[in-house]
Amino acid sequence: MVEYGLRLRAEGLSLEDFYNTLISEYKARTPKSAELYERARNVLPGGVTYHIRYFEPYPFYVSRAKGSHIWDVDGNEYIDYWIGHGALILGHANDLIVDKVRGILDKGSHWGYEHEYAVRLAEKIVNHVPTIESLRFTNSGTEANMYAIRLARAYTGRKKIVKFEGGWHGGYDSLHIGVKSGRKKGSRGLPDEVLANTIVAEFNNPSSIEKVFKEHGNDIAAVIVEPVQGAAGIIPADEDFLDALRDLCDTYGSLLIFDEVITGFRLGLGGGQEYYGVRADIVTMGKIIGGGFPIGAFGAPREIMELLDYTKTPEDKRSFHGGTFAGNPVSMVAGYETIKILEKPGFYEYLNWLSGKLAVVLQDIGSRSKIPVHVTYAGSLIGIHFTSEEPRSIRDVLGKRVNPLLNKVLQKYMLIHGHVFLTEDISHLMLSGSHTLREVESFAQLFEEFLRKVEEYL
Ligand SMILES: Cc1ncc(COP(=O)(O)O)c(C=O)c1O
Repeated sequence: MVEYGLRLRAEGLSLEDFYNTLISEYKARTPKSAELYERARNVLPGGVTYHIRYFEPYPFYVSRAKGSHIWDVDGNEYIDYWIGHGALILGHANDLIVDKVRGILDKGSHWGYEHEYAVRLAEKIVNHVPTIESLRFTNSGTEANMYAIRLARAYTGRKKIVKFEGGWHGGYDSLHIGVKSGRKKGSRGLPDEVLANTIVAEFNNPSSIEKVFKEHGNDIAAVIVEPVQGAAGIIPADEDFLDALRDLCDTYGSLLIFDEVITGFRLGLGGGQEYYGVRADIVTMGKIIGGGFPIGAFGAPREIMELLDYTKTPEDKRSFHGGTFAGNPVSMVAGYETIKILEKPGFYEYLNWLSGKLAVVLQDIGSRSKIPVHVTYAGSLIGIHFTSEEPRSIRDVLGKRVNPLLNKVLQKYMLIHGHVFLTEDISHLMLSGSHTLREVESFAQLFEEFLRKVEEYL
């Protein structure tokens, strides 16, 4: 690892001092958020509804959002590159989606019976996503993965599952391990017994997974992988790596699950399977397919999904799925209308062109800097890393950092200049069809200014 001193020689200031000036500036702009944070801390652990939304010294609290813009309760405006955890590919409060949702709300928000809106969204997904011939809706990506693992176990009659270091599949017990490096549990409260059948292999390392299959191949029900690891910092899988997974699963009769909760309908209508030209056996989805409302889904060829079919499969062979709000009409309508917009010619061309442009410009700027910068990207997903070499896994993202504070300083610098993304520790940018060239140029210009400033602290 390259060693960087933190002292600004002339003034005796450190990168920490610079960070603290940014924090002070943020505090000066956000008194109402500070008040809300104090209230929130009394009733919500850490003052937040999900820890990923926390950043130092306290998060801003939102009042409204439109398109690529979001406003906090103090009236500060930000260009939003987090865009609802990546769910809002059309941007915030898209007029057409809002209108269609209002229309359905007049008729009811949750019927608890079957309806055509779920059939229509399912047809759209089946139409676009390779492998999926039949699917079930859930309320989150976590649930989708939980039911997909259960289904894979039911179908193969095997117990073991393989996930990768850096893979984030939600809070489901069996997958909540190795979210960072190694076999570290992602939470207390996960008994060893629950994780005894979860194997953690190295992402983008075919020999690690070959070794796992040699040892356990005949017991492996499924391998679950994100085609582009999101939470790890937007780390695309190598094509060879996904090919190797496909081959190994075929050889050993295991199922390959693509977790496309982020990549589904983001990399294109066909998601990661289309992007990489690799077929999965089960695909899980979430985020975008809900059009801004809670959702998840898992789908597969009919032969596999039939294990959920009450009319065909006897109880002792069935795999259960259900949920009070599963397939609720609001999420179904919003998702369906979103996909109709995504189908319009030019949507992905524009979004991917804009995102590619931003990624390339950021890399260019970074390459001219004294600080090593590596921009990873796929489609409209971008990661910014201050690592000694291009990261290919979470091990690199965390282990090859030249200074662990730099991402935090960047997040705060952008924040006080009206641009927001999360997390503060790993910089992810996710774009929407509402972002403009001017906006990404402004981001790039600020990034250049940021690098000039922090170079002073080398
Ligand atoms: C790849 C991936 N899978 C699963 C999930 C879990 O989805 P949810 O937060 O809807 O439960 C996420 C959430 O960010 C994700 O990024």
